[in-house]
Amino acid sequence: FEVLWDAAAADKGGWSSFMAKEVSEEPEAVANTLRGRIRDGVVSIPELDGLDDLFAGINRIIVIACGTAAYAGMVGKYALEQWARVPVDVELAHEFRYRDPVIGSDTLVVSISQSGETMDTLMAVKYAREAGAKTVSICNTQGATIPRESDAIVYTHAGPEVAVASTKAFVAQITALYLLALHVGGVRGTLTPTEIAQHVLEIEAVPEKIQRILDRSQEHIEQFAGWMADTRSVLFLGRHVGYPIALEGALKLKEISYIHAEGFAAGELKHGPIALIEPGQPVFVIVPSPRESPVLHSKVVSNIQEIRARGARVIAVAEEGDAAVLPFADEVLHIPVAAPLVEPLLAVVPLHIFAMGLATAKGLDVDQPRNLAKSVTVE
Ligand code: G6P
Repeated sequence: FEVLWDAAAADKGGWSSFMAKEVSEEPEAVANTLRGRIRDGVVSIPELDGLDDLFAGINRIIVIACGTAAYAGMVGKYALEQWARVPVDVELAHEFRYRDPVIGSDTLVVSISQSGETMDTLMAVKYAREAGAKTVSICNTQGATIPRESDAIVYTHAGPEVAVASTKAFVAQITALYLLALHVGGVRGTLTPTEIAQHVLEIEAVPEKIQRILDRSQEHIEQFAGWMADTRSVLFLGRHVGYPIALEGALKLKEISYIHAEGFAAGELKHGPIALIEPGQPVFVIVPSPRESPVLHSKVVSNIQEIRARGARVIAVAEEGDAAVLPFADEVLHIPVAAPLVEPLLAVVPLHIFAMGLATAKGLDVDQPRNLAKSVTVE
C-alpha cells in the first residue's frame, strides 16, 4: 500500500509550493480585498463607518511597517498624497519608534502587517497611540494583535499566506491602501464622486489584468529565470511607483534565491549605482507607461540606454505595445496597459514569478528560505 499524497501537499492544492499557489492567487487577493467595499462606484468600507473623525482633523499620515509591507506602504504614499492630499511619510517601524518622532492628535498612523504580529510594528503602533496619534491597521489576519491595538482596521482579504516570502498579501495591501486613500479623499473632499468612480473602475480591472500576466507570461518568465540561475547579482531600477516595486523585486530575490539583489530609484543611477554596471550585469527596469507618464517614460528609457551602453543586460518590465524600449532591452516582460497608480500592482507580478522561478531552478525551498521567519515576533 502506497500513500500517494500527504497533508501538506494537499494544502498546496496541487501546486509545487505554497508560494506558487499564493502567486496564482494574486488576482483573487485583490478581488477579495475589494469585495463588499465598493457600491455603485462609491468606496464604502463598512469597518470605517462612523469613523470620519479619524480622517477629518489630520494634517499628516505616517505609514509604518517592515519588510514587504513597508514597500506596499511606499506605493500607498503616492495614492494617499495624490487622492487625499495629505502629506505622507513611510517609515520602517523599528526606526520610527526610537527616534522621538513628532506626532500628536493631528497625525494618522497607518500600520501595515500581513500577520498582525510583527513585534516592531506592534510596538510602533502602541507608541503612536500613547503619543495621541490616531491609528489604522491594514492587516491580513483576523483578530491579530496589531489590529486590536488600533482605532480602526481595514482587513486585507488575501487569505492565509503560508510561504515566508509575502506575495499575494503585498498586492492586497496596496489594494487596501488605495481603498483607504479613496475613502480619505472622499471624507476630506479632495476627490469628486466622479473621480472616485474613475479610480474605482481602474482598480476593479486589476484582478483580470494580473490573471492575464499569469496566463500569458508565467511559463516564459519561469523559463527565463531558469536560464539565469547562475547569476550572482541582479539590480532593479524603478521610478515613482516603480521605485518601491524595484525594492520589492530585489527583496524577493534575496529572500528566496540568496542572490545579491539591490533596488534603486532610477533617478539615482548617476549618483552611484551606475558604477556597478559592468558587461553582463542583469538589470531589471520597471518602465512607466509611455501613454500615461510620457515624461517619466522617456527618462527611464534614457537610463536604459545609459546602462546598456555600459554592457548591462536589460530586462524591461514594460507596458504591452511600448515600442520605445524594444531596441534597448534584452528581454521585455509585458504588463497590460493601466493607469499609473495601478501599474505597480501589475509590474510586481513578473518579479514575484521571476524570484520564484530562479529559486526553484537553483533547487531551493521557496516556501522556507534559510534564516527567515514568516512573522518576526521579537524586536
Ligand atoms: C518577515 C517576513 C516578510 C514580511 C515581514 C513583515 O520578515 O519574512 O515576508 O514582509 O516579516 O511581516 P508582516 O506580517 O508584519 O507583514
